[in-house]
Amino acid sequence: MRIALLGGTGDIGEGLALRWAYDTDHEVLIGSRDPEKARAKAEEYETELDSRGLDRAVKGFDNEMAADRADIVVLAVPAYHVGDVVEGVADVVDEDTILVSPAVGMSRDDDGMHYNPPGVGSITELVQRRAPEDVRVVGAFHNLAADRLANLDVEFDLDTLVVGDDEDARDLVADLGAEIEGLRVLDAGPAANAAEVESVTPLVINIAMNNDGMHDVGVRYL
Ligand SMILES: NC(=O)c1ccc[n+]([C@@H]2O[C@H](COP(=O)([O-])OP(=O)(O)OC[C@H]3O[C@@H](n4cnc5c(N)ncnc54)[C@H](OP(=O)(O)O)[C@@H]3O)[C@@H](O)[C@H]2O)c1
Repeated sequence: MRIALLGGTGDIGEGLALRWAYDTDHEVLIGSRDPEKARAKAEEYETELDSRGLDRAVKGFDNEMAADRADIVVLAVPAYHVGDVVEGVADVVDEDTILVSPAVGMSRDDDGMHYNPPGVGSITELVQRRAPEDVRVVGAFHNLAADRLANLDVEFDLDTLVVGDDEDARDLVADLGAEIEGLRVLDAGPAANAAEVESVTPLVINIAMNNDGMHDVGVRYL
């Protein structure tokens, strides 16, 4: 598979890129609004992998070119820009593409983080609205801490959820997630359930902020 991480220059993009490059044979492409930045980051990821004895090619492109080349397109950009990024790649994605959204709308005040979804209910549903009709959309990987993913020395044993209307697409993204060592992926059903899935993230961050030594806390469903 070819996996493009749009905004793969940022935190969650880096974590997923490194883990997929380290743990699987899938081709990993880094997207950015700025292709030079994407190439520089891709080189940085290659260097990190090389330092662990892994000779892996990670390539960088602008977001549209990365999406055009990929089967799986992860929208690793801030929640309030996801819709625009989807529209920016609309001409190069089709029924063979799966768009994956890890994005969560949140606001912060003195008490902590709060779930702040868009009017359509969730970012997953927003992506569905803004994407061409035949493109399948899956929400996934919302509750993973980017730092933990990006540090390949860290072993983990965590759960994450997939949500979306197309069961085959959910299964495929779940399989891709489960190829990351230590990650179990559970199916949370259709996109109408995405708000519940996305809202776990501010909860996890509030736990991290209020408990010593739990900076990178994750979730296990038992
Ligand atoms: N950080 C986490 O631990 C984590 C975990 C799970 C899910 N998430 C979700 O994943 C998404 C990305 O989070 P992140 O922490 O990785 O974000 P981030 O590091 O702040 O940003 C990721 C990338 O988004 C691109 N970007 C920034 N502003 C943009 C804009 N106006 N339009 C288009 N692209 C823009 C930038 O890439 P270029 O400048 O290269 O274009 C940036 O490197 C968020 O929606 C978040 O809710 C984050």
